[in-house]
Amino acid sequence: MIRELAYIGVASPRHEEWLTYGTEVLGCGLGPRGGDGAVRLRVDDAVHRITIRPGDRDELLYTGWAFTNEAELAAYLERLRLAGVDVTPGTVDECRDRGVAELAWVTDPWGMRHEFVSGQHRRPGTFWPGRPLSGFVADDFGLGHVVLIVPDLAEANAFYGDILGFTLSDRVDEELMKVRFYHCNGRHHSLAVAQVPGKVGFNHLMLEVNSLDDVGTGLDLAKRAGAPVLRGLGRHTNDLMTSFYMLTPSSFQIEYGFGGIVVDDLTWVASTNDRPSLWGHELTEAGRTTAPGILHDAERVTA
Ligand SMILES: [Fe+2]
Repeated sequence: MIRELAYIGVASPRHEEWLTYGTEVLGCGLGPRGGDGAVRLRVDDAVHRITIRPGDRDELLYTGWAFTNEAELAAYLERLRLAGVDVTPGTVDECRDRGVAELAWVTDPWGMRHEFVSGQHRRPGTFWPGRPLSGFVADDFGLGHVVLIVPDLAEANAFYGDILGFTLSDRVDEELMKVRFYHCNGRHHSLAVAQVPGKVGFNHLMLEVNSLDDVGTGLDLAKRAGAPVLRGLGRHTNDLMTSFYMLTPSSFQIEYGFGGIVVDDLTWVASTNDRPSLWGHELTEAGRTTAPGILHDAERVTA
């Protein structure tokens, strides 16, 4: 089964800004630049986990999910094929670019690309944060979590839950916000899907740091750097993460948080929360006037 969120790749006309935003605000380390000029960021000993490529418009290009080893990956891909999913093998160039040994990819019903990989390249003992920071919760927990926007939660669950095999953690069900959260390791969720009728897209990437002070200094630095804060400090009902949300140079958001719980499948029961936060996470003026991420009109690309 899927073991962790390995990486994401985004295209953006403002990719160069990630050299400073990614290091000085987020505290990521810098990885090697891509051949196309991509900025690559690290949060642990993996060679890179966030890639921002040059592009004409902001776009989530792919999300990468790692397996324990090549046999686990091959068995999983075979199950997907038997379930009727169109699985495309990755090329040698794609493996080199992503920093992995094996790669294959699929798209969800609305065309969002998911890559399944094994053998992610690591350089033990080489991670150094881009600003004073106690570090990220990553390694075996993966990069963090991604929240995708989908037009229909039931259809999304049929793909992400039933076919891809993500385990439901819980739901938020309120009038204006309907979200399903999924885990693939102890992190409460590595993936969530939020329903926006008629739309598909990428709402946010969550990065978890090792101390509340890292969140506070991140908030100070975001304001100083002019990165719009879209939701103020707050604490989520389900994963108990204390976090805030800011707009990146590339239209999606970063949730920057501390203190997420770890779930254990032996004891975990999926519940429903009628609100997303215990306190805080109030929309700012910028939050009220900014689109919720990189958004497109939804168009089904597979049956
Ligand atoms: Fe989040």
